[in-house]
Amino acid sequence: MANAPDPTTRIDVIFSAAEIAARIKVLAGEVAARAPHDLLVVPILKGSFIFAGDLVRALHHADLTPEIDFLTLASYGDATFSSGEVRVTRDITSEIAGRDVLIVDDILETGRTLAHAKALVLDRGATSAMTCVLLDKPVPRAGEINADFKAFDCPEVFVVGYGMDLANRYRELPFVGNLITDN
Ligand code: IMP
Ligand code: MG
Repeated sequence: MANAPDPTTRIDVIFSAAEIAARIKVLAGEVAARAPHDLLVVPILKGSFIFAGDLVRALHHADLTPEIDFLTLASYGDATFSSGEVRVTRDITSEIAGRDVLIVDDILETGRTLAHAKALVLDRGATSAMTCVLLDKPVPRAGEINADFKAFDCPEVFVVGYGMDLANRYRELPFVGNLITDN
C-alpha cells in the first residue's frame, strides 16, 4: 500500500511545536531590536517554509512589516549527505538594493547554503544581510559563516519535520524530530 508506515523507521521528537513557537517569539523580538530598514525576508526553500511562515507572523506581532520573497537553493539530493554544491533553482525577484535583508534557513551545517544566499543578496546591493536559522548543527563550517539569529542548537543527527525532509517526506510534521532507521 502506498504511504504505509515503515516499521523500520521511527521519529523521536527533538523540539516540540510548543517549544518552537515560544522560541520564535523571542527571535522575532531580537530581529525587531535591530530596527531593520525596509526589511525583506528571504526564506530559503523548501526547508524553511514553515519556520519562515511562523517567523513572519511573529515579526508582525513585533511591529515589523516585512516584504517576503523566496530563494530556492538545492544542495542536497535525495540523500542524507550534502553534495557540497549549491545551485539557485528559483531566484528572488524583489528589489534588494538599499534594503536590510533577513535570510531564513532551516539548518546551518557547513554554511555553504547560507554563504551562497548571503553573497547573492550583498552582490545585489543589500545594505545588510542578516541570517536566521531554526537549527545550528555543530559541524565544521566550510568558511566564515554564522547565524545572526538562531532558534536552537541541534544535535548532530538527521532531522525531519517542521518543513525539513528526507527525499521530500516528513515536511508536514509540526515538530522537529530525529529520523531513526533500523537496519
Ligand atoms: P549547509 O549548506 O551544509 O549549511 O547545509 C544546510 C542545508 O542542508 C539545510 O538548508 C538543509 O536543507 C540541509 N540539511 C542539513 N542537515 C539536514 C538534516 O538533518 N535534515 C534535513 N536537511 C538537512
Ligand atoms: Mg535547505
